[in-house]
Amino acid sequence: MNNNRRLPDSTVEVFPIGLGAMPLSLANRPNESQALDVINTFIDGGGNFIDTANVYCADEKDVGHNERLIAKALSKPDNVQDIIVASKGGLRRSKSDWKVDASPEWLRASCEKSLQDLNSDSIFLYQLHAPDPDILLTESIGELAKLKSEGKIQHIGLSNVSVEHIELALSVAHIMSVQNRCNLFERQSFNNGVIEFCENNNITFIAHSPVGGHYQHAQRSENILLKKLAEKYEVSAYQIMIAWLLHKSSSIFPIPGASKTISIKDSIQAVKVELNKEDMQILEATIN
Ligand SMILES: NC(=O)c1ccc[n+]([C@@H]2O[C@H](COP(=O)([O-])OP(=O)(O)OC[C@H]3O[C@@H](n4cnc5c(N)ncnc54)[C@H](OP(=O)(O)O)[C@@H]3O)[C@@H](O)[C@H]2O)c1
Repeated sequence: MNNNRRLPDSTVEVFPIGLGAMPLSLANRPNESQALDVINTFIDGGGNFIDTANVYCADEKDVGHNERLIAKALSKPDNVQDIIVASKGGLRRSKSDWKVDASPEWLRASCEKSLQDLNSDSIFLYQLHAPDPDILLTESIGELAKLKSEGKIQHIGLSNVSVEHIELALSVAHIMSVQNRCNLFERQSFNNGVIEFCENNNITFIAHSPVGGHYQHAQRSENILLKKLAEKYEVSAYQIMIAWLLHKSSSIFPIPGASKTISIKDSIQAVKVELNKEDMQILEATIN
């Protein structure tokens, strides 16, 4: 069975579940060998889309850590197939937090550093990490459009946006994807029309934090209904959460994070889970 999905306006087909690489580079991250195993396990399982960002790192001196790891994994001779890497720019990292800076200058400097760290001439998908309240969105997107015309990036994506942001961005450039926080417990992008807009405008909706997020996933996976369904389908509660997103819309592309190989091995199996209509309804009515 080929469940792969075509990315809009491209010839690229992706496995329906991507890898969110962030947990490989934050505090309490795994050692390099374990991190490379996670990426390789994902690829060996058929995955071919990895989400990253320059600011997935420990602090300002460590910027690019996640991208360098991915470049190292992809330099392995066995990883011959084309792997899609999606990065982001528009934040600044310090030890304690991330601050938005989507100025044209910072976006350009970040993109050029990402190209070096990824050891690549061109980034397939480059996403604006978040709109900057101090910079016109059209200016940020205008700079990304310039980077695209120079061949440094191939497609533009947005992240952490509303329908109004997407409409404004579309007035400047073609947008391939929108990446917002979205999981069974956090459905803002369903309620505010973002997912419907993406469906109607041939934009891939990338669901970040699809199993509850970096800090909440353990607690979310303990939900009683999820555990009951996990038992019924003989899969993990995590797979039920990912399968729910896949069943909601063919425009939704979940990117579960992992710092352990066992987690990503399990998550990619969600592609095989066929939730029936009744269970979809029960999940939505009970968890909201
Ligand atoms: N655009 C943005 O602003 C933004 C914000 C947040 C995240 N993201 C992106 O979205 C990706 C996913 O979000 P996230 O990593 O924050 O949250 P998440 O995917 O909801 O949760 C990730 C954590 O869940 C655990 N997990 C996942 N699948 C599992 C499974 N099958 N079994 C057991 N544990 C499992 C992993 O634990 P272990 O670590 O123990 O393996 C992992 O660290 C990130 O990696 C990043 O690429 C983007």
